[in-house]
Amino acid sequence: MTENSLKTNSAVYCSLNELEGLAQEKLNRMTFDYYAGGAGDELTLRDNIDAFNRIKLFPRMLVDSSKLNMEVEILGTRLASPLMIAPMAFQRLAHEHGEIAMARAAGRAGCGMVVSTLATSSMEEIAEAGSTPLWFQLYVYKDRQITVDLLERAAAAGFKAIVVTVDSPVLGRRFRDMRNLFHLPSHLKCGNLTGALQSIPEKEGDSGLAAYIASMYDVSLTWESLRWITKQTKLPVLVKGVLRADDTKLAIENGAAGIIVSNHGGRQLDTTVATIDALSDVVNAANGKVPVIVDGGIRRGTDILKALAFGAKAVLVGRPMLWGLALEGEDGVYKVMETLKDELRNALILSGYPDVTSVDRSLLGS
Ligand code: FNR
Ligand code: LAC
Repeated sequence: MTENSLKTNSAVYCSLNELEGLAQEKLNRMTFDYYAGGAGDELTLRDNIDAFNRIKLFPRMLVDSSKLNMEVEILGTRLASPLMIAPMAFQRLAHEHGEIAMARAAGRAGCGMVVSTLATSSMEEIAEAGSTPLWFQLYVYKDRQITVDLLERAAAAGFKAIVVTVDSPVLGRRFRDMRNLFHLPSHLKCGNLTGALQSIPEKEGDSGLAAYIASMYDVSLTWESLRWITKQTKLPVLVKGVLRADDTKLAIENGAAGIIVSNHGGRQLDTTVATIDALSDVVNAANGKVPVIVDGGIRRGTDILKALAFGAKAVLVGRPMLWGLALEGEDGVYKVMETLKDELRNALILSGYPDVTSVDRSLLGS
């Protein structure tokens, strides 16, 4: 299959799994490896996908599906389907319009988008670009004033929620990035930050990003710090990177308005449990008090259906969005979203659950 053959199908892609190989042909090695890679032996990276494939569905028959509902509302954010773009750094490495193209595509598809602290455009520029609900993903720097400023700017720019990522006090050991001496080319900047914090320079013998994070991020963060963050903003604060029941309870006790079950797409601690295998415990611990979202390895509509059946309210999708962006810019991202929405629509009808809000555990058998 060539990139040209992709373009002949105007509406959707046949398989998001095919996009990675095509994007690889377009991107330089440093960028492709940074996007595609994971930590350590990349076991969790692969297991996120394999774990979805191990789960089997028990569809029910003869359910009237003439009225289909894919809409959900999470913490005041209305979405056309339970699908959002995961926060991902440095999107201008994939395409000159980077995060702006992502936000425009999300607006067209009615999908939400979580904007990374490490975006290559400013959050204000991204907010202007798209009509989609945006959430802001927060990394906490040693200088707490930076956090306060980022939170104020996000509220002023109309962001609807804050996502605090808690699985990255340091970066995972990413051997591809170490070999490629990953860095941000000098024409690109972290648009949400100022001064020295804007650039990710090359570092001899290491990933420039790992070195940046080691020197700038606050490795002393605790649940107390989460409580402090929730007091600095009126926006709901979700915690991204939770995998255990006890941490779910601590997050809620310390002010979290939502939980995102994530292992950072296998990029942090390798051999960590696949996210779909961790979801059930977190949902049980959350006990309906706050919404639970999951990400990692979602590549098909049936994966979204499985996440909903385990009790997630929505999913975040990461890498396929970057492949769409690299291949066809805004249109490529839009097609990735439409592909997932089409597949989900089909799976909802074929499984006998025409309303996304009514999908339940019985779909996974007894
Ligand atoms: C990420 N992820 C991420 N997470 C986060 O909280 N802040 C960030 O800046 C980034 N940056 C980032 C860059 C790239 C290139 C990737 C691939 C991922 C993690 C991301 O939000 C999400 O958890 C995973 O990507 C989900 O897994 P899939 O869908 O990529 O398998
Ligand atoms: C990553 C960081 C930036 O996964 O979250 O590359």
